[in-house]
Amino acid sequence: MPNRKQYLIANWKMSKTTNQAILFMQQFPVNSLNNSEIQVILAPSYVSLSILRDIILTASAPITLAAQNCSSEESGAYTGEVSVTMLREIGCQYVIIGHSERRTLFGECEPMLSKKVELAVKAGLIPILCIGESRELYETGATVEYLKQQLAPYSSTLPFLLAYEPIWSIGTGLIPTREDLSTALDAIDSKFPDTPILYGGSVNRKNISDLLCHQRMNGFLVGGASLEPDSFFALYSAMNQNNHHG
Ligand code: PGA
Repeated sequence: MPNRKQYLIANWKMSKTTNQAILFMQQFPVNSLNNSEIQVILAPSYVSLSILRDIILTASAPITLAAQNCSSEESGAYTGEVSVTMLREIGCQYVIIGHSERRTLFGECEPMLSKKVELAVKAGLIPILCIGESRELYETGATVEYLKQQLAPYSSTLPFLLAYEPIWSIGTGLIPTREDLSTALDAIDSKFPDTPILYGGSVNRKNISDLLCHQRMNGFLVGGASLEPDSFFALYSAMNQNNHHG
């Protein structure tokens, strides 16, 4: 396998206030994050990034920060936008780009997203690019074709992570069958053999061991199950065990 490093990413979406993010950090067992092959990444709201950075630094916690989005513009008169330079300066190492909620609820698509990826890389951030098909495409068997189309603008040499998140799986409790997930991972791998590929969509402590059987997967982007310290840590423990025995 080209890349053994694993990633566990908490996407808190718009679910946690800063006080709730601080409380999470007080309860999350950072001293038990002792496997250096598993990178834990938190993606809080923009407004909580700097306080989380300070908490992480003070605790010397092996955790890094991701933003949930960034502007497709570098700087200037773009009211309400947050630039990649601002994110870098505040201590982010990663930025989620093209989450399906950005695509479906806010109309984001390529080429805007490929511009964000380019700017993020230029600023020294590692983009986590989300891709994934709708239920309709899944049901008509068009997943692979659609993933290829979504990935067409991107070069295999880009220093980024790919998160395969079937839209029908996000927040629904449904996950792809083992065969369907393998097919999707293989399709992505055929163009991006050296890129870490994550899975996202209803990952929880019950289904993670099934998902961990995919050799070509380098971790998870987690929404719901990342909100509580114990359920998020349960995912870490499952990955840790798999990493030792796998
Ligand atoms: P979920 O969200 O784990 O709640 O399905 C995943 C995501 O949206 O990244």
